[in-house]
Amino acid sequence: MEGLLERDLVVVTGKGGVGKTTLAASLALLASERGARTIVVEVGDQRRVPELFGVAPDGEPGAEVELAERLWATTIDPDRVLLEWVQELGGRIPGKVLAGSSTFQYFAAAAPGAKELFAMVKVWELTQGKRWKRRARGYDLVILDAPATGHALGLLRSPQTFGAIARVGPVAAQADRVQDLLGDRRRSAHVAVSHASEMAVSEAIELDGALREALGRGLDAVLVNAVLPRRFSAQEMARIAKLDGADGSRSGGRRTARSDRELLRAAAHAAHSVHERARLQQNQVARLRRHELEVVSVPFLWGAALDRAALARLAGQLDPRV
Ligand SMILES: Nc1ncnc2c1ncn2[C@@H]1O[C@H](COP(=O)(O)OP(=O)(O)OP(=O)(O)O)[C@@H](O)[C@H]1O
Ligand SMILES: [Mg+2]
Repeated sequence: MEGLLERDLVVVTGKGGVGKTTLAASLALLASERGARTIVVEVGDQRRVPELFGVAPDGEPGAEVELAERLWATTIDPDRVLLEWVQELGGRIPGKVLAGSSTFQYFAAAAPGAKELFAMVKVWELTQGKRWKRRARGYDLVILDAPATGHALGLLRSPQTFGAIARVGPVAAQADRVQDLLGDRRRSAHVAVSHASEMAVSEAIELDGALREALGRGLDAVLVNAVLPRRFSAQEMARIAKLDGADGSRSGGRRTARSDRELLRAAAHAAHSVHERARLQQNQVARLRRHELEVVSVPFLWGAALDRAALARLAGQLDPRV
């Protein structure tokens, strides 16, 4: 999927826990290293990206935190964004009073898609070279670390959901701008992160269909994360299976010690199970390809918690493909 990072916005979503934040951060690191002023946007009260870069995520909620050269992170919390918006309409009513008021609660409940739309307007704003706040400089690339599929669809469909209520006026105009950005393949990209598992792949395929319906376009790529390497060929596996079955096997004319034989058998089993898991993963990758989805495989990284060095390794894996 070449040119993925040359658009204004990349939306990253997928099943819960599959590595969306990790790969959103890796893509952002890669883009910043290629020279683009890049910001990763987390949704809700998440602040995992600064943590991955070893940067304390201090500052007020929604602050833009510098992580590295040309690389920033921020968060957009739909609840807070809606509150700010209503506050603006309501003049000087303090946020705390408003948040607790039944009118606001009523509005929030009665306006489906409102908070999601206002959150997406904030994302749209970040993609604009000219920022509303005059001091701030714009970004070349915004990477949205969207929530898991269902909630992400709530964000991506919000121009339609809320637009159905407000057909005219300034909100409708904003909804149109968001919809245009999300539907325009030259300006935005939609990426699913998936594990090579049946459920995650099914979710990515469903997401592709839902995007086509909501935005008139499908996924640009599926990043299949944590893929196991295929260490052995089929011929090698056949040979390993023979080792496993070695009953009273001899080596160099001498009976192998029983413990060695058990060890050999356990090693052969382990090799077999890793091989089998890798094979099942490849079946799932094949399912994605049958749906004509562009697949980029990302290897499983062994070792302790993922840090900046690990993100750089993942960025290196993604580099030739995006
Ligand atoms: N390629 C990889 N190799 C090894 N571990 C990985 C890899 N990618 C992600 N992980 C680990 O998997 C876990 C989940 O990753 P991450 O938090 O990025 O997922 P997520 O999809 O953003 O989750 P959530 O749905 O909770 O937001 C983390 O512990 C992360 O370190
Ligand atoms: Mg995440």
